[in-house]
Amino acid sequence: MAQKVLITGGAGFLGSHLADELLARGYRVLVLDNLDPQVHGPQPKRPDYLDADVELIAGDVRDRGMVRHALRGVDAVYHFAAAVGVGQSMYEVVHYTDVNNRGTAVLLEALIEQPVERLVVASSMSLYGEGLYRTPTGALRTVGERTLDQLRRADWDWRAEDATPLAPVPTPESKAPALASVYALSKFDQERMCLMIGRAYHIPTVAMRFFNAYGPRQALSNPYTGVLAIFASRLLNANRPTIFEDGCQRRDFVSVYDIARACRLALETPAAAGEVFNVGSGNAYTVREIAQRIAYVLGREDLEPEITGKYRAGDIRHCFADIAKARSVLGFEPQVSIDAGLTELAAWLEGQAAVDRVAQASAELAARGLTV
Ligand code: UD1
Repeated sequence: MAQKVLITGGAGFLGSHLADELLARGYRVLVLDNLDPQVHGPQPKRPDYLDADVELIAGDVRDRGMVRHALRGVDAVYHFAAAVGVGQSMYEVVHYTDVNNRGTAVLLEALIEQPVERLVVASSMSLYGEGLYRTPTGALRTVGERTLDQLRRADWDWRAEDATPLAPVPTPESKAPALASVYALSKFDQERMCLMIGRAYHIPTVAMRFFNAYGPRQALSNPYTGVLAIFASRLLNANRPTIFEDGCQRRDFVSVYDIARACRLALETPAAAGEVFNVGSGNAYTVREIAQRIAYVLGREDLEPEITGKYRAGDIRHCFADIAKARSVLGFEPQVSIDAGLTELAAWLEGQAAVDRVAQASAELAARGLTV
């Protein structure tokens, strides 16, 4: 009998792609998801994109009874259920702590009673804060948070004490966390709690630190979605993308398909147990480059990005992944190039706009009594 895998939060962006990846490899997939209206809309229902072979339990990971029920007959668990807005976590502190920290605690207590062969938890690059830097003499450096004064002066980049520029380098898992949001703190908590309980109760556990994920099914209704989807939506509505700072900040944009593959490998690789992995593309692009590339794939290079020189409080300057560990231990190799990934994202976004118009049109017809 094929292994049965539970994905908490499996109706969401990353979880649903993971479900596809696992089903394609012959696993049975069960999803526990509360279909949060912020992601799934005001009248939440099973998302159309969720494969028909996925068994869905609509329920909350904080509900002990529900979690116990979901764990019956399950061989492995992916814990992806979480509230995911960095900015929002800074005012909905109780909600983020409740869903992310307590939700994980409830799941872990249930797992102590009903252990599984593997637990994989979704963590985030956000826990690094700024990425790792190198001085002109080649020494590695960690830095803190830029001051408001510095940002007001449009002094975006990091420099050493003697004012020489610091160069960003790929960030490895060994970089100490620098937690700058309640969200980042909760992700760190989730991964530590899972690894700790996993170790104590012999549940082989793996934590995956995702970098900036993108791809079809990104929750566009969620105002906390990433820059790629924001730029694409602006271009599709004939608006120029707005770039914060000078646009030279660098990130690691990783395709959701590569994330799904890395997560499957985390289940199938015995040596992954007890470890933490960065999951990125291994490439870094500036926000300016990304704006250009997405305008190109959408055929809207006429809509040049506006470089505002404004800044978002709490933004980091550079962070991109060192994926050497995932490569060597998991045998992970990113397969989706940025251009292929953006082309597909753009095609999907165009379809989304069409669907929205269709929904609106049907509602208008219905309101006028023109449909049955
Ligand atoms: C943050 C989180 C990350 C989360 C991601 C998406 C941190 C350190 N990381 O990443 O965990 O997965 O959000 O929710 O908090 N930008 C523009 N114009 C825009 C929007 C954004 O120039 O219209 C710039 C931002 O200033 C930033 C870069 O694009 O420099 C990336 O922003 P974003 O996509 O929000 O992600 P992160 O801040 O990297």
